[in-house]
Amino acid sequence: MIFEKNLLKEQVALVTGGGTGIGEVICRELAGHGAHIAIASRDPKSHSGIVSEIESLGCQTVSIATDVRQPDEVQAMVGQVIEKWGHIDILVNNAAGNFLCSAEELSPNGWKSVVDIVLNGTFLVSQAVLPTMKDQGTGNIINIGATYALSAAPMVSHSGAAKAGVLNMTRTLAAEWAPYGVRVNMITPGPVEETEGVRRLLGEPQVRQSMLKRIPLGRLARKEEIAWAVLYLVSPAATFITGNNLVVDGGMWFASDGFANL
Ligand code: COA
Repeated sequence: MIFEKNLLKEQVALVTGGGTGIGEVICRELAGHGAHIAIASRDPKSHSGIVSEIESLGCQTVSIATDVRQPDEVQAMVGQVIEKWGHIDILVNNAAGNFLCSAEELSPNGWKSVVDIVLNGTFLVSQAVLPTMKDQGTGNIINIGATYALSAAPMVSHSGAAKAGVLNMTRTLAAEWAPYGVRVNMITPGPVEETEGVRRLLGEPQVRQSMLKRIPLGRLARKEEIAWAVLYLVSPAATFITGNNLVVDGGMWFASDGFANL
C-alpha cells in the first residue's frame, strides 16, 4: 500500500473498461484505498473477478454494460451510478479499442470504430458526469493515453490520432471546468506487461528486445504503476494539478530511439 488506506474513503469512482487489463488494476487500487467502484464495459461478464475482489475489500461496486460510443447508454450508465450513490467523485476514461493495421489498409469503419471508442467515448462520458461534479463543486477526471500518441503511430493510426485528440481535449476540459472545481488530467503509459495490446504488439521475442532497448529503465511497466499514477492525480497531493499529462513509461518517450544507439 503506497498511500494511506482510507485516502478515498466513501468516494465513488467510475472506471470505463474497468473489467480487464489496466482498468481492472485501477479499480483494485482505488477500492484498496476505500473508493466504491462502478465498472463499465461492453462485456460485464468480464467483471466477475474484480467485482468479488472489490467486495472483499469492504467497498461497494456496480457492474454496468455500456458502449461508450452510444450517448444514450452513457447517460443511462451515469444515471445508474448517481441512483446508487448520489455522487461521482472520480471518472477514469480507460475504455479503448485497438488493432494493428496499416493506414493504407484500414477500412473507414475500422478507423471510425476506434476513434469513436477512444475520442468520442471519452468526450461523451466526461460530459455526462460534469453536471454531478459541477453540483458537487469537485471532481477528478483521468484520461488514459498511450506514448505512441505523442509521436508517429505506425500500424495504429486510428488509436494514435484518437489518443492525441484526447490529450488536447484534456487540456481544454481542464481549462473550461476548472471554475467548477473539476480537475482533468491524462496519464500516458508506455508499454505495460501482460496487456492484450502488448501481447499483440510484442509477441515476437526480437520485437520485445528492441522495445526494451528503447526504455531507459529497462523493462515494461507493471499495471500497478499506471494505477498508482491515477491514485496520485486523484489524491490531495495533486489538488493544484490540472490539464497535465503524466507520462509513465520508464523514460521511453524522452529517450526516443537515440538511447538504443548508445
Ligand atoms: N484488422 C483490420 N480491421 C479490423 C480489425 C483488424 N484486426 N479488427 C476490426 N477491424 C475492423 C472491422 O473489419 C470493421 O470494419 P469493416 O466494417 O470495414 O469490416 C471495423 O473494424 C469494426 O469492427 P467490429 O469488430 O465490427 O467493431 P467493434 O465495434 O465490435 O469492435 C474494435 C471494436 C474494432 C476496437 C475491436 O477491435 C474490438 O472490439 N477490440 C476489443 C479489444 C480491444 O481492442 N482491446 C484493446 C485495448 S487497448
